[in-house]
Amino acid sequence: MVIIMNTKMRILELLEAHRGETISGEQLAELLHVSRNAIWKAMGELRGEGYQITAVTNKGYCLSQENDILSVQGIKPFLLPECQKYAECIHIYPSLRSTNQTAKEFAVAGAEHGTTVIADTQTDGRGRFDRSFFSPAGSGLYLSMVLHPDALHFQNKTAVTAFAAVAVCDAIEALSGQKPTIKWVNDIFLHGKKVCGILTEAVSDFESGRMQWIVLGIGLNIHTKAAAFPEDLQPLASSVYAEETTAALPNTRNRFAAEIINRILGKEYQFTEEVLFQKYKERLFILGKEILVLDGQSAYHAAALDIDALGHLIVKDQTGALHTLMSGEIRIQSVTGR
Ligand code: BTN
Repeated sequence: MVIIMNTKMRILELLEAHRGETISGEQLAELLHVSRNAIWKAMGELRGEGYQITAVTNKGYCLSQENDILSVQGIKPFLLPECQKYAECIHIYPSLRSTNQTAKEFAVAGAEHGTTVIADTQTDGRGRFDRSFFSPAGSGLYLSMVLHPDALHFQNKTAVTAFAAVAVCDAIEALSGQKPTIKWVNDIFLHGKKVCGILTEAVSDFESGRMQWIVLGIGLNIHTKAAAFPEDLQPLASSVYAEETTAALPNTRNRFAAEIINRILGKEYQFTEEVLFQKYKERLFILGKEILVLDGQSAYHAAALDIDALGHLIVKDQTGALHTLMSGEIRIQSVTGR
């Protein structure tokens, strides 16, 4: 059993590394030092898990480009060389209550920086203000990462949310060619609707106030069609490939996972805070707009003016008074979104 499991995973790794190409059973058997029969059995198991593997007589096996199953083997070919080591701490599940919840359990147990939890679906995905996050199977990416504050290159650790928002926007743009925008604090929009939400949670030592770990949770709607969202979300939510005009690259969800991991853990995105907030501001679509600020129990109309060096939003209320918002919720008057 163990041998078959290992063979299966190693076959998947080879098939993923050569997606769309045919590899002969003989070649696989030789490379993995197992019998042709073991290869055949493992192919059957992979097919049973939903992998579309075609067998061409006298040629071999080929993993279809259409296949969009999340796997470490599917993510690995798209990880940058410096991020390959993180493949060993990616944990993928068919279903979880919440990837943030599981990542927090990993963090408490001492998980290393970069440990990543991904689920195909979440039964109790959570958003900010403890709202639920719609997480259907097969069409989104629900990813949570354990980050050690000392390993982050910026001083102000709360900048991690803005950092993640920039990283996800850049990943969407790199893979789909579309230009996402950000609604403060960390909602990502395409086609005037939200396609991604980010929930950052942290634990600090009570006595020293030192932040011990951060769990960064990203929920990205990738293929979800408009009609698949619950009715109350349909005017508000969308997905990267909701519009039929934009075709997805093969192996989409694994690619998105890798592009996000590369940006958050790789070398290229070690921006200074100044550069980070400049990039964040370039994507922010609320500046200059009339907004509704939801401030605990009260709400007031204001103009969104600017972002300061810490990512706080500066607004001017109707009396002309300036406010610096550190967190909270805003609504745009002209755009349906929350
Ligand atoms: C929001 O929109 O308010 C934030 C949504 C964050 C959702 C993601 S999905 C992966 C991770 N697991 C969760 O339960 N939440 C985050």
